[in-house]
Amino acid sequence: MIRSPLLLLIVLSACSHYPHGENESNIHMHKQNHETLIASFNDPHRDLWQRPKRVLELMGDVKGKRLIDIGSGSGYFTRYFLEAGALVVAADVDQTFLDHIQDSFKSKYPQLILHRCQYHDPMMKKSEFDFAFSSNTYHHLDERVNYLKKVLAGLNDQGTIVILDFKKNVNVKKVIGPPLEMRVPSSQVIEELKAAGFHHIKVFENDFDHQYLILGSKKS
Ligand SMILES: C[S@@+](CC[C@H](N)C(=O)[O-])C[C@H]1O[C@@H](n2cnc3c(N)ncnc32)[C@H](O)[C@@H]1O
Repeated sequence: MIRSPLLLLIVLSACSHYPHGENESNIHMHKQNHETLIASFNDPHRDLWQRPKRVLELMGDVKGKRLIDIGSGSGYFTRYFLEAGALVVAADVDQTFLDHIQDSFKSKYPQLILHRCQYHDPMMKKSEFDFAFSSNTYHHLDERVNYLKKVLAGLNDQGTIVILDFKKNVNVKKVIGPPLEMRVPSSQVIEELKAAGFHHIKVFENDFDHQYLILGSKKS
């Protein structure tokens, strides 16, 4: 039994900190099993609102570039980047999703690397990548400024971060994506990118009904 009130407080605050990434967004997502999630991430109708080709246009040429897809899930964007000739590392905290990507793409694209990262660390080597891309995953991250500082260190001097996630203020009839209260508004992403040391931040909100795409550079 814990007799000291101070010790009890320490234990309680440690428990509420979700040390294994079991935050609201991850708990919400895993109310569905992997099979259902993969089917929904790979829904062929997704292209209509996701506009993957527009995402690639906004990013610029990725051919031959080293790119980490953080929170790659079923590999929806991983596939587009492989097709465009990028050297892709698919990174996720969830081995089941990585296994799915391995089974789906590895034989056609042997250069693809599967990377099990940690909730609080993308585990990028210093200056390893030209692009750090993340789709619909930013709202899953905790302690985001610290996380972004690790991403910054893993980009080379010309490197770019790309954050694609769901708008908090949506003006559409049918809302797609996570519950509104779990989303991170684009203004907050911008502040967090600046706090982590990113420069030349560009925001694209009008290209997508449901989402924003934000680019940031390592170089000042
Ligand atoms: C909503 S899914 C998005 C999947 C994919 N990017 C897409 O757009 O289809 C979120 C993904 O982020 C992963 N994830 C959650 N927390 C993470 C973290 N801290 N670091 C890396 N990936 C994380 C989940 O396992 C899941 O694959």
